[in-house]
Amino acid sequence: MEPLIVANWKMNPQKIDEARKILKGIKEGIGDIKGVEIIICPPFVYLPYWVEFFKKDEKKIKLGAQDCFWQEKGAFTGEVSPKMLKDLGVEYVILGHSERRKYFGETDEMINKKLKAAISAKLKPILCVGETERELGIRNYELGEVKNVLRNQLKMALKNIPNSLFQIPNSLIIAYEPVWAIGTGNPCPPEEAKKVLLFLRKILKKNQILYGGSVNSENAIYYIKEANFDGLLVGGASLKAKEFIKIVKSCSVKN
Ligand code: PGA
Repeated sequence: MEPLIVANWKMNPQKIDEARKILKGIKEGIGDIKGVEIIICPPFVYLPYWVEFFKKDEKKIKLGAQDCFWQEKGAFTGEVSPKMLKDLGVEYVILGHSERRKYFGETDEMINKKLKAAISAKLKPILCVGETERELGIRNYELGEVKNVLRNQLKMALKNIPNSLFQIPNSLIIAYEPVWAIGTGNPCPPEEAKKVLLFLRKILKKNQILYGGSVNSENAIYYIKEANFDGLLVGGASLKAKEFIKIVKSCSVKN
């Protein structure tokens, strides 16, 4: 399969004009690149504009949201339902990102409900899992505790998920994001991330598994070509068009 590069813009940029500029830069920069799949996940408020943009672009770049609620409709102030996203033309949704777990108190049970709702609305979930610095221990890369954390997160988040989702690689995507590596400029060394990938692969035999956490244009290629991840979840570096294009190009299998 072609590597999947997901851009998580988080709560950025601050103005729609800036968002347009980044998107235009990415679009022009990638040209007719082949051998890689790109998904961009902007904040909710930019989605309607983007949907128009992507229609014209014949869906070369796919669109994702950064979260969704588990209910379809009703008195849930501030929330957005999976059906609303689907109706708008969004295809993917990031769920269980560590920032949502940390700042909004999302539990594995809540993530499980969101996952089920997203699946029944026919969105493709990108489920984030990863250990905190404390869970990693003294950063000695001993995997014992990390394995427990990941096993539990997966077990709870994926409870009662239809079996078919484990058979088709891109119907459910998993992102391994060590929390201590996110936004710190301190990525998990690819050879260590690879050990985690091998562990995850025993549980998720067919699903695409991405790496995320301080990915940049210099290190991206090592996660794909040496550690054998199926793709990347890119935060900060996806807001700089030139940097993001470099990441995409370095990971293209046609490169
Ligand atoms: P980062 O973020 O690339 O800025 O570390 C990754 C993420 O949070 O998905």
